[in-house]
Amino acid sequence: MESLPVAGPGAVDRHLLVVFGATGDLFRQKLVPALYHLVRQYNLADRFLILGVARSQMEDEDFRALSRVSIEGISRGQAQLGEEYADPGDWCDEALYFQSIGTGEAHAYRALRNRIERIEAAHGLSGNRIFYLALPPAAIGPTVRGLGASGLAHSAGWTRLVVEKPFGVDVESAVALNRVLHGCFDEPQIYRIDHYLGKATVQNLLVFRFANPLFESVWNRDRIDNIQITVAEAVGIGQRAAYYDRSGALRDMVQNHLTQLLSLVAMEPPVSFDAEAIRDEKVKILQSVRPLRPDDVVFGQYTAGQANGRSVSGYLEEQGVTPGSVTPTYAALRVFVDSWRWQGVPFYLRTGKRMHSRLTQVAVTFHGPPVTLFKSFERSGRQGNVLYFKLQPHEGFDLLFDVQKPSDHPQLDTRSLAFAYEEAFGSLPDAYETLLYDVMTGDRTLFVRSDEAEEAWRRYTPMLEAAISPHPYPAGSWGPKEAERLLSPRDHEWTVRLPDNGDPGI
Ligand code: NDP
Ligand code: BG6
Repeated sequence: MESLPVAGPGAVDRHLLVVFGATGDLFRQKLVPALYHLVRQYNLADRFLILGVARSQMEDEDFRALSRVSIEGISRGQAQLGEEYADPGDWCDEALYFQSIGTGEAHAYRALRNRIERIEAAHGLSGNRIFYLALPPAAIGPTVRGLGASGLAHSAGWTRLVVEKPFGVDVESAVALNRVLHGCFDEPQIYRIDHYLGKATVQNLLVFRFANPLFESVWNRDRIDNIQITVAEAVGIGQRAAYYDRSGALRDMVQNHLTQLLSLVAMEPPVSFDAEAIRDEKVKILQSVRPLRPDDVVFGQYTAGQANGRSVSGYLEEQGVTPGSVTPTYAALRVFVDSWRWQGVPFYLRTGKRMHSRLTQVAVTFHGPPVTLFKSFERSGRQGNVLYFKLQPHEGFDLLFDVQKPSDHPQLDTRSLAFAYEEAFGSLPDAYETLLYDVMTGDRTLFVRSDEAEEAWRRYTPMLEAAISPHPYPAGSWGPKEAERLLSPRDHEWTVRLPDNGDPGI
């Protein structure tokens, strides 16, 4: 996890980046803008070339034009970057090529290999290659086999393989996918992307915990009452019904993004800050998660309502959704980690589409004082000490504490110590910039190891098979009321820190 401020051309070996799925949404919305931004910010133009691959036929010129339009549509903080390559078209013309793989026959892979070797020879590259699979899940296995059979899994330089989530759809398919990957590539060559790990604020969970002994000393069952992880999205499923209706919230968000957050919040200090040490500790947390039971889980599905100030359809009315579908668009879970540190502390996880607002937060609620001296005080607000990690939007931390409010009668008020990233450091890098840079420099810390992916599926697969019916919730709400029953036995309540007024609320 080399941080971006030390990034630069010296750290990146010259290489060819081969992107499968280079006409798709991920490439256009995220990858090519992030690559362009890296080039300009860290002078990487002479460090790498890109060969886009898809089944469709396309000329190099058309691929360059498509990429240029994508970059222009997503300009992020380009103003302070200087003049070189200020026109993205200049970089696209120099650095981008395209090759069709057709239906993936052996001859198409031979042609791909020839094209790679010709580009490398023409530009004096020594055979360092990244294969980035921005592909629909069903295309991953055949593509990996195609690369293996055509001798592209290894080269005279280094070869790295990047795989996008989902890593399977249950434990069985995750194991099968890893078998396919390991049939052609060695684990150290493989970079499984969970883009949440690329978010600067997610990485900072580790820095916050392990660079600040003040907090680490209270990071345990003796001081912490409960931990909540909320990943709320205001958007619906958009045009992704074909994928989403077969996936749902548990597969799409909980197994990966929320579980990564859980692991980072709960893990023990690693023996060092290197990739394997950190990943070892994350796997141990997953192994310590108590088997879930159906009554630890509440699913929901959005119905029509008001979102972002306009009327929106319910999930069942979205184009492409199977009539009567029971796919959950919301999931809430009560998780226990059976370790010395966390015994008895509930971790509440929830995520959903079409919720009240877009917001990702971790709320750590500390125990109240052992003796209440201020019983006679009136209280405004209901919380004592809560630490909110605000991962998006308005990234930062808020620590809530009680003060006495000046008044004619004794009164407690909740106030906060607040830190905002943007105020301190300006805008944060996009997750894909961080992750692409890490692949280029060979840093695997922020990528998911095979055992980690399998272990996460092992925890959730029984809940996928338990046929839990989703409860309806109106679009624009915080999810189904039934999710409160996960917290009520301990008298807990869902909490997030709302950006508008800063008040703790639901
Ligand atoms: P799209 O459907 O938009 O694009 C898929 C791309 O793959 C197209 O370029 C398509 O072109 C190509 N393709 C499909 N089948 C093959 C094949 N057999 N061989 C070679 N190319 C093929 O998907 P996305 O870009 O949205 O998603 C790609 C992956 O990234 C998925 O795994 C998704 O889960 C993941 N992801 C996407 C995110 C996003 O923001 N879009 C965010 C996080 C993850 P053609 O049809 O010409 O072959
Ligand atoms: C993706 C999911 O992995 O993450 C999407 O497939 C979801 O359904 C997205 O919308 C959320 O990412 P972010 O970065 O917008 O929180």
